[in-house]
Amino acid sequence: MSIHGYKKAVVTGASSGIGRATVRALHEQGIEILAIARRADKLDALASETGCDTLAADIRDTGAIKKVLVEFAPDILVNSAGVGHGMTGLETVDASAIEEAVAVNVLAPLQMTAMAIEGMKSRGRGHIVNIGSISGIHTMASALYGATKSAVHQLSQNLRMELRGTGIRMTELCPGRVRSEFYDAAQGDRTQIDAAKDTGISELRPEDIAGTILFALQAPLHVNISTIEMLPTEQAVGGFDITPIQN
Ligand SMILES: NC(=O)c1ccc[n+]([C@@H]2O[C@H](COP(=O)([O-])OP(=O)(O)OC[C@H]3O[C@@H](n4cnc5c(N)ncnc54)[C@H](OP(=O)(O)O)[C@@H]3O)[C@@H](O)[C@H]2O)c1
Repeated sequence: MSIHGYKKAVVTGASSGIGRATVRALHEQGIEILAIARRADKLDALASETGCDTLAADIRDTGAIKKVLVEFAPDILVNSAGVGHGMTGLETVDASAIEEAVAVNVLAPLQMTAMAIEGMKSRGRGHIVNIGSISGIHTMASALYGATKSAVHQLSQNLRMELRGTGIRMTELCPGRVRSEFYDAAQGDRTQIDAAKDTGISELRPEDIAGTILFALQAPLHVNISTIEMLPTEQAVGGFDITPIQN
């Protein structure tokens, strides 16, 4: 029996990390999934494993995605695709990386959500899950990434207001450090990024996030798990950072 009778989910960023773990978790709940990312080989492997439908597309190509998404008519949309450009300083990335970060992290969830909610409204139910970040709700040394994720935060907050009375729930999940391909794909100072990858802490696993998404989906329908902040036990935000600064 699927969650609240939800039958179909669209998951972006499904080729790795949180998106892929979410596809697996939803598949175990008997939900039919449309998995979206650019790398077709990774999506094919996930399809063999879970039977999900796939769409190998750049999330910025809204024209190509819209037709498929509207026909698929999802009850659940998980916006997980994202890039971590500029974590080593705004000046360490070029203009195209800044544009990509805004397009993938902000414009894409806006477009995907706009495409999905019309059908959800007509069916009187649905659930949008946005993967934000602690960088979007706390002050951190990640100007570009934090700007995109704070946009996701305000999008989630304001959309929840717009959706009142429609039966559509809106959950934003803001993780701290997750073990995934995120830092491999990030643009910036490669030496600094590689050094930052080795945190020495036990990071969150994508499966931890997927489990929390399930928790939000499975909450009774009169409950909207609105914003969740999730950190590795060994990570904390706030306070005075006394790690050595780099000159
Ligand atoms: N890892 C962390 O520490 C962390 C912390 C907080 C929040 N987050 C957020 O969590 C989300 C998932 O990240 P992750 O940790 O799972 O990283 P990941 O393993 O690098 O996954 C990122 C996913 O986004 C997809 N993607 C990137 N650009 C795309 C594009 N232009 N078109 C279509 N798909 C695209 C990638 O697929 P393709 O390359 O195949 O297209 C990949 O499936 C992101 O929104 C990220 O900001 C991550």
